[in-house]
Amino acid sequence: MTSPEIGKIKVWDLPVRICHWSFAVIVPAMWWTAENGEMGWHMRLGIMLLGLLVFRILWGLMGSSTARFSQFLRGPGKVIAYFSGRSEWKADDIGHNPAGGWSVVALLLAMLAQVSFGLFSGDPYDGATGPLNEKVGVMTADTLTELHETFFYGLLALVCLHLLAVIYYSVVKKDRIVPPMLTGKRAAPEGVAGMVAAPAWRVLVGVVIAFAVMWWVWSGGPGL
Ligand code: HEM
Repeated sequence: MTSPEIGKIKVWDLPVRICHWSFAVIVPAMWWTAENGEMGWHMRLGIMLLGLLVFRILWGLMGSSTARFSQFLRGPGKVIAYFSGRSEWKADDIGHNPAGGWSVVALLLAMLAQVSFGLFSGDPYDGATGPLNEKVGVMTADTLTELHETFFYGLLALVCLHLLAVIYYSVVKKDRIVPPMLTGKRAAPEGVAGMVAAPAWRVLVGVVIAFAVMWWVWSGGPGL
């Protein structure tokens, strides 16, 4: 970081930031609602989380440059090089680093798995059931309910790892990565280009598809 700072460049667009902070609120809220028997809210939040995940995955295919999987998923060589300090990646590069990119996919997949198990969970003769519960037999629903309960600890471990990484970068490496996730911008030296924004109509496409999936799942999914 020898170049002088000349100002702020855009690194995260609004859809990425809205998805991110919604994940950060909804995941703990889903744990709280389950622990406190607020199953109506647990389901509503679960469907919202599903919609956000569908949108974020679509945005990873058609969104702004730093949101795209193709931009931040690098091969094992680049990840090893990044960890061993031989990488071409520099702190001035914008977007997720080679290691962070894979942790994004791990977090998104873990949340998707957790939501998917939840959709089939529950016992029709006792308590709340997910909207797709009756699409599977009682025994399968039972297994998926157990998975929904135990897999939560896997998701929790990933979230803790994520928070430790954020603390490490912020405190030890003195890289202020949290403010850009709030404002979308970060200081950068001369020559570092900002993110390339996706056209606004693609947000609409993503939102419509996400709502369609939410509605379809909420109304029971495929007919028997
Ligand atoms: C349940 C809680 C959380 C979940 C599930 C979560 C998930 C994620 C995901 C999926 C991303 C990738 C963003 C994207 O490209 O779409 C991300 C990035 C990020 N998160 Fe979180 N997050 C959580 C909590 C937090 C908290 C509490 C903070 C800070 C106080 C935080 C700070 C960040 C930062 C700074 C990045 C960008 C990392 C980078 O520069 O590459 N996250 N998080």
